[in-house]
Amino acid sequence: MTMQRFSGKVMVVTGAAQGIGRGVALRAAAEGARVLLVDRADFVAEVATEVAAEAGRMGTTADTAGFVADLETYDGAAAAMAFAAQRFGCIDILINGVGGAIRMRPFAEFEPAQIDAEIRRSLMPTLYTCHAVLPHLLARGGGTIVNISSNATRGIRRVPYSAAKGGVNALTQSLAMEYAQRNIRVVATAPGGTSAPPRRVPRNAAGDSDQERAWMGEAVQQVTESTFFKRYGSIDEQVAPILFLASDEASYITGSVLPVAGGDTG
Ligand SMILES: NC(=O)c1ccc[n+]([C@@H]2O[C@H](COP(=O)([O-])OP(=O)(O)OC[C@H]3O[C@@H](n4cnc5c(N)ncnc54)[C@H](O)[C@@H]3O)[C@@H](O)[C@H]2O)c1
Repeated sequence: MTMQRFSGKVMVVTGAAQGIGRGVALRAAAEGARVLLVDRADFVAEVATEVAAEAGRMGTTADTAGFVADLETYDGAAAAMAFAAQRFGCIDILINGVGGAIRMRPFAEFEPAQIDAEIRRSLMPTLYTCHAVLPHLLARGGGTIVNISSNATRGIRRVPYSAAKGGVNALTQSLAMEYAQRNIRVVATAPGGTSAPPRRVPRNAAGDSDQERAWMGEAVQQVTESTFFKRYGSIDEQVAPILFLASDEASYITGSVLPVAGGDTG
């Protein structure tokens, strides 16, 4: 039996069909959370079932569900929160995982529509879900939001994504300040480059050209060299600090953005 820091808590994890979000859902369910996995990918319900099965193998009887929503729309965010409250009776914790640079290229090479797409992907879902979850947290008498930001607030080949994550950091701090007196904590982690299995859902549905892969290689080199360890982190190395911040162990931490990037501070 693993630690049970989330026993009885209801947690919503966005971007949970793969990557860091899926890792968060897996470990939280094993630690007793009742988890709603939200994603635009239609296989998220399948992942919710796998997560419950994995928690079972680790000795925890888990209650999980999947919900398909496009969180780049406010309606999608509101529907996901309403479903969680109806399915589990309340919401205690929201982990915002949706995001990720769609394209890597020098800023001058971005087309205007591509700039908009990065902001829609990596800022708006977090802004929308933070707003949509608030009535549920206030009704509960408090709760916790953990936003997954990025150390790419300082980095090359993805300036629009950097700006989006800078926005995530700003909303984390301001929302924390505004709602601390209502017993709501708002925190973030800023992951560095993270190794993961091949993505079932690609960041860029259109695929990357050879030139884009070369620009991505330049970003990967900059990210790796900026760490003290000269390596990427693992999904587990991202999940652990996210769940520490989500847990009551972090009860006196709010408004903070924790770099989890091997010494790089973004
Ligand atoms: N992987 C890294 O190296 C890294 C580094 C720094 C920060 N981050 C941040 O961590 C978070 C997770 O990254 P990852 O690499 O694990 O993600 P990923 O790209 O592997 O998965 C993202 C998930 O979000 C879902 N998604 C995308 N747009 C959506 C939308 N509009 N509505 C609902 N779901 C949507 C996708 O379907 C996918 O399942 C992101 O916010 C990313 O910016 C990742």
